[in-house]
Amino acid sequence: MPHLPSFNHERLKKDGRYLAWRTLLERCPSLSPGWHIEDDRVCVGETKDQDLGLLTELAKSLLPWRKGPWSLGGVEVDSEWQGGMKWRRVQPHIDLVNQKVLDVGAGNGYFGWRMLAAGAKSVTACDPTALFVVQHQLIQQLAGAPEHQMWACRIEELPLTETDFDVVFSMGVLSHRRYQQGDHRAHLGHLYRRLRPGGQCVLETLIVPDEACETMPNHDRILQPQSRYARMKNVYALPSQQTLSQWLANTGFVDIALVDFAPTTVEEQRATEWMPYQSLVDGLSETDQTQTIEGYPAPIRAIAIGYKPPHRSDGQKL
Ligand SMILES: C[S@@+](CC[C@H](N)C(=O)[O-])C[C@H]1O[C@@H](n2cnc3c(N)ncnc32)[C@H](O)[C@@H]1O
Repeated sequence: MPHLPSFNHERLKKDGRYLAWRTLLERCPSLSPGWHIEDDRVCVGETKDQDLGLLTELAKSLLPWRKGPWSLGGVEVDSEWQGGMKWRRVQPHIDLVNQKVLDVGAGNGYFGWRMLAAGAKSVTACDPTALFVVQHQLIQQLAGAPEHQMWACRIEELPLTETDFDVVFSMGVLSHRRYQQGDHRAHLGHLYRRLRPGGQCVLETLIVPDEACETMPNHDRILQPQSRYARMKNVYALPSQQTLSQWLANTGFVDIALVDFAPTTVEEQRATEWMPYQSLVDGLSETDQTQTIEGYPAPIRAIAIGYKPPHRSDGQKL
C-alpha cells in the first residue's frame, strides 16, 4: 500500500465509514501499477481477469462516483460527470508543462490526472469529503503515482507551508462557500496566498446573468438562492460575471479574464449506474431546461483566469 500522510488517517477517521473502507481497500488486488488517459477515462492499474469481480465490488462499495470517468484495472466506472467536457473547456487556457499544481476541492482527483497528463510536474490536491479521498486512495493503490498527493482537508486547513505553486485550481468550490460570512473572499485569498509571484489561478464556478442578481450594499451583484438551487442545499451565492471579476481583482489578482462560459447540460451531468441518485435533470424545470426547478436561471459555469502579480505590493491585506 502506498504511503499515506498520517494526517489523512486522523481526519478521515471522523467519518464513521472510514475504517470499513480501509478494510475494503486492504483487499485490493496488487496489480502492475501505472496510469494513462484513454477517451477521457483515467485508466489505472493493469488487471488480470480474475481480479475484475473483486475490483468491481470494491468500487461499488464506494458509490457515488461523481467525478470521472475511470477504468479501474479494467472496471469501467461511468461517473455522474463527464469530466472530459470540463477539461476541454479549461485546457486551452493553461500550460502546465513542468508546473507545480495545487488542486483545491479536487473531489476524487480526476482532474489531477488530466493535469499530470498535460505535463504538470506534480499535483497536490485537497478535499474534505472522506468518500472522495478514499476513492482517490483506491485509485492511487492501482496507479502508484507519488506525484499526485491528496490531503483530506479544506484549503484553509492545508498543513503544508508551501506558497510557491505555479498554478492553483479551484473548480466547482466557490458557490459552496458561505457569502454572508465572507467565505468566498477568504477562499480566493487562500488561492492567492498559495501561488508564487506570477503564478496562475484557474477558477471555475457557477455564475448567473446580471438580470437575475440583486445588488448588495457593497455593490456585489449576486443571486442568493432562498433555500435550494437546482435541488442543491449548499449553494449560497452566485455572482454575475462582472462581480466574479471584481472579487478576483479585490483579492489582488491581475490580468483577469473570463475565458469560457458553458451551460451545464444533462449530457455532462447525469445519473449512471455509478451515481444512481438524483442528478441535474431532477434539478431543472420539466418544461423549460433554462430554469431550475426553483425558477432560477439554470447552471452556467464560467472559467476565470487571474495571476498573482510578479512582485507583490506590500501592505496588501487579504
Ligand atoms: C463540486 S465538487 C468539485 C470537484 C472538482 N474540483 C470538479 O471540478 O469537478 C466541490 C468539492 O469541493 C470540496 N470543498 C468544499 N469546501 C472546500 C474547501 N473549503 N476547501 C477545499 N475543498 C472544498 C467538496 O468536498 C467537493 O468535493
